[in-house]
Amino acid sequence: MTDYILEMQGIVKEFPGVKALNDVNFKVKRGEIHCLVGENGAGKSTLMKVLSGVYPYGSYTGDIRYNGEVQKFRKISDSEGKGIVIIYQELALIPELSIYENIFFGHEIMKGKSIDWNETITQARNMLGKVGLKADPSQPVKTLGVGNQQLVEIAKALSKDVKLLILDEPTASLNEDDSQNLLQLLRELKAQGVTCIMISHKLREITAIADTITVLRDGATITTMDATSRTIEEAEIIKYMVGREMDNIYPKRKKHAFGDIALELKNWTVVDPVKNREILHHIDLHVRKGEIVGIQGLMGAGRTELAMSMFGNPTGYRISTGKLFMDGRGVTLKHPKDAIRHGLAYVSEDRKGNGLFLGQDIRYNITISNLEELVDGLSINENEEIAIANDYKESINIKAPSIEQKVGNLSGGNQQKVQLAKWMFAKPNVLILDEPTRGIDVGAKYEIYSLMNRLVEQGMSIIMISSELPEVLGMSDRLYVMSEGTIAGELLTEDATEEKVMAMAVSS
Ligand SMILES: Nc1ncnc2c1ncn2[C@@H]1O[C@H](COP(=O)(O)OP(=O)(O)OP(=O)(O)O)[C@@H](O)[C@H]1O
Ligand SMILES: [Mg+2]
Repeated sequence: MTDYILEMQGIVKEFPGVKALNDVNFKVKRGEIHCLVGENGAGKSTLMKVLSGVYPYGSYTGDIRYNGEVQKFRKISDSEGKGIVIIYQELALIPELSIYENIFFGHEIMKGKSIDWNETITQARNMLGKVGLKADPSQPVKTLGVGNQQLVEIAKALSKDVKLLILDEPTASLNEDDSQNLLQLLRELKAQGVTCIMISHKLREITAIADTITVLRDGATITTMDATSRTIEEAEIIKYMVGREMDNIYPKRKKHAFGDIALELKNWTVVDPVKNREILHHIDLHVRKGEIVGIQGLMGAGRTELAMSMFGNPTGYRISTGKLFMDGRGVTLKHPKDAIRHGLAYVSEDRKGNGLFLGQDIRYNITISNLEELVDGLSINENEEIAIANDYKESINIKAPSIEQKVGNLSGGNQQKVQLAKWMFAKPNVLILDEPTRGIDVGAKYEIYSLMNRLVEQGMSIIMISSELPEVLGMSDRLYVMSEGTIAGELLTEDATEEKVMAMAVSS
């Protein structure tokens, strides 16, 4: 047998108008953790879909060798039959079903003609033990947090007797603890002989876990680096990813004076009526015109709840005390539409449920939020619409053949850019960004940060919620630290350090 469990050679995969993979060579050693990195749209997910048979043999050119033999996978079950299991960027569990039903969904344990539930539950418990998830196998998956759902996906892969495990951005929506936990599990699986391919934009994780790193750019392999023989610095990976040196990750903003207070919360207390529990306690905060205010805090500190309660409360919370002021006037926002009408916009962390029209093109998705601006007499000024969509496509580098591309066909990170462009074009007075750069590559982050700078220079206010502390420190003028539903502290960014912020975040 060769040292390589997998050898993909000269892979070319085209979609109408897009050459997603253009001669990719990718070799994975048996028993290693191999990280696959590259900018949004570089072709990472597509390469893994070619491997797993989502794109069947015949729909691409090039060779796939697995354990030295050429493979012609026509469907996912063909690759799974050989022990290749992929966990997708968007999890594929069925929330209503129990853990054990999910683990054995599609490959049920049979006894004669019916499912052997006793054996299913026993085996499920065994798999949960292996991934270190302490949960009752009959619990519905929807009762688990994302971190634990990810563990169920891995348990499912183990139940299929996985030899080569592929994870597409597994930690994108996990908090620090869950991420560390997952990486530790990958190390344990490696010790048991499972080979692993991991796609991630989190370079810190990659340098910590990778044995080998392969960089893709524009559908081609740029380099493969051996991380066992030397230390690989993040800067080196970035250089290969973006094709140039990047000495500054956060673009400098021109110093400018802030204006009046654009939005203020006073004594804001919020109750979750379903759980009958107070989730936010007496919050005071404000943001001025032209200012970027960061909101930092651990997962569960109440940051997203805070944003939702300001943005017209779509989740049905009850504001038990307090008031929201916009431009100094008290307002009651009963619905997100009220919020938008008052000049408030919210870009959520959840790409799927955020109102992108996946069947529509980029142009439609960007301009829909502010069609009034394009009205010319009785009709929409189409030339201007095209110009605006093209302008955003270029300025934040949305990777697609044209603005006529369907958003559903864009890579994950590029969908996120469209959603940002959409809300930026809505030209709100106050823009709330919730984890705006999740799943976004380093180069594109820079472009998004530059765009944020441009917006505040024009007088917009931005509230940025992010669990990436370096990003909050790099971009905000001032920041609030939340802990257990309260504001635990406030800092000017120039006085803030990672240590000070973390101390506040765990203070209550
Ligand atoms: N079904 C499809 N139809 C048309 N184009 C597609 C389709 N799937 C992917 N593409 C295009 O192929 C290219 C590679 O996409 P892919 O999803 O592999 O990128 P990625 O490296 O995984 O990016 P990300 O980091 O954003 O997830 C992109 O330009 C994308 O728009
Ligand atoms: Mg992808």
